[in-house]
Amino acid sequence: SKKLLVDVDCGVDDAQAIMLALAAPNVKLLGITCVHGNTTVENVCKNALRVLQACNSLEIPVFKGAAKPILGNSINAGEFHGHDGLGDAPDSRAPGLDLVQKEGAVSAMIRIVNENPGEVSLVATAPLTNLALAVKLDPSLPSKLRGLYIMGGNTESRGNTTVCGEFNFAADPEAAYIVLNDYHCPTYLACWEFTCYSKLPWEFCDAWLAQDTDKARFMAQIFRHSIEVSQTERYEKEFITGSGFISCDSYAMAAAVDDSFILESDRYPVSVELTGTHTRGMMVVDTVGFMKKTHKAFIMKKVDMKKFEQMMMAALK
Ligand code: BDR
Ligand code: CA
Repeated sequence: SKKLLVDVDCGVDDAQAIMLALAAPNVKLLGITCVHGNTTVENVCKNALRVLQACNSLEIPVFKGAAKPILGNSINAGEFHGHDGLGDAPDSRAPGLDLVQKEGAVSAMIRIVNENPGEVSLVATAPLTNLALAVKLDPSLPSKLRGLYIMGGNTESRGNTTVCGEFNFAADPEAAYIVLNDYHCPTYLACWEFTCYSKLPWEFCDAWLAQDTDKARFMAQIFRHSIEVSQTERYEKEFITGSGFISCDSYAMAAAVDDSFILESDRYPVSVELTGTHTRGMMVVDTVGFMKKTHKAFIMKKVDMKKFEQMMMAALK
C-alpha cells in the first residue's frame, strides 16, 4: 500500500483532501502534520482531529508544527474558511488538543520519512513552513521521499491572496522558496489557476453532500460557509472562470493517491519571488532555462476529472 504523510492547515479543502485519502484503497496515512495557514496552528490541530473523528480514524497521529512563517507574521483565510478554519460550525463532541502528539511536526516528519526510506509520499496542502524547516534539519530528507505533492503557487501570476500570490506561497514565501529549491525529488504541483480551471460543478457538490452518511452530514456543516462565499460575485471573479467549487487541496491529494490521475503536466524548474512591488510570493516558472536549475517540477495541466469525482464521492461514503 502507498504511504502518505500529509501536511495541512486544515481548512475546508484540506479536510476534503484528508477524507479523500482515508477513503482511497491501498493508502496508509502515516500521520497528519499541522501548520499555521487558514487559521492558527492550534485550530488546525483541532480541525485535523475533527476530520479524523468524523472518519473513525483517530488512531492516525496528529502533530503540531510551525505557528508562524519563517519571516514575519502569519496571515489567515478566515473570510473564506471561517475563523476556526472549518466554517465556524463548532461541534461540542470535537476531540480535545490532548490528543495531539507530544512530538513536534517537523521531528515527526523527519522520523517517519527516515523510518520508511523511499516509500513516503509527502502531500503538502498548506504554507510550506514545516517542510522548509525539516529539510534544513535533515537535508537528506528529499532523497528519501517517494514524491512530493504540493497544492500551491501559480502559473499565470493570478493571485488569490495578493495580486500575484497564491495563499500557501504568499503565507510563507521563504518556505516555498526553500522547498522548491531544496526538495530534489519527484515534485508535483497543483497550482491555483489549474485548480480554478478544474472546478467541481455545483450539481456535483449537491449530489455529493446529499449522500445519506455521517461523513456527508459532517461535510455539509463545515462546507456551508465556503459555499456561500464561493457563490458571491467577488469570488466568482477571483476564481477566474465558470462557476463551481474549487477543492484545491484535493488535487494534490488525488495525484498522490493515484498515479494515473495526472493526464498532462508541464515540466519546468520553478522558484518563488521573494521581493517585488506586487510579486512577493508569486511562483516563477523558468520555461527557457535562465535559472540553470536541473530539478524540474511537474506542473499539473490536465487531470482525470471523472476519477476525481469518483474519489470525492467515495470520501463521504
Ligand atoms: C490554498 O489556500 C488555502 O486557503 C486552501 O486550503 C488551499 O490550500 C489555496 O490557495
Ligand atoms: Ca490548505
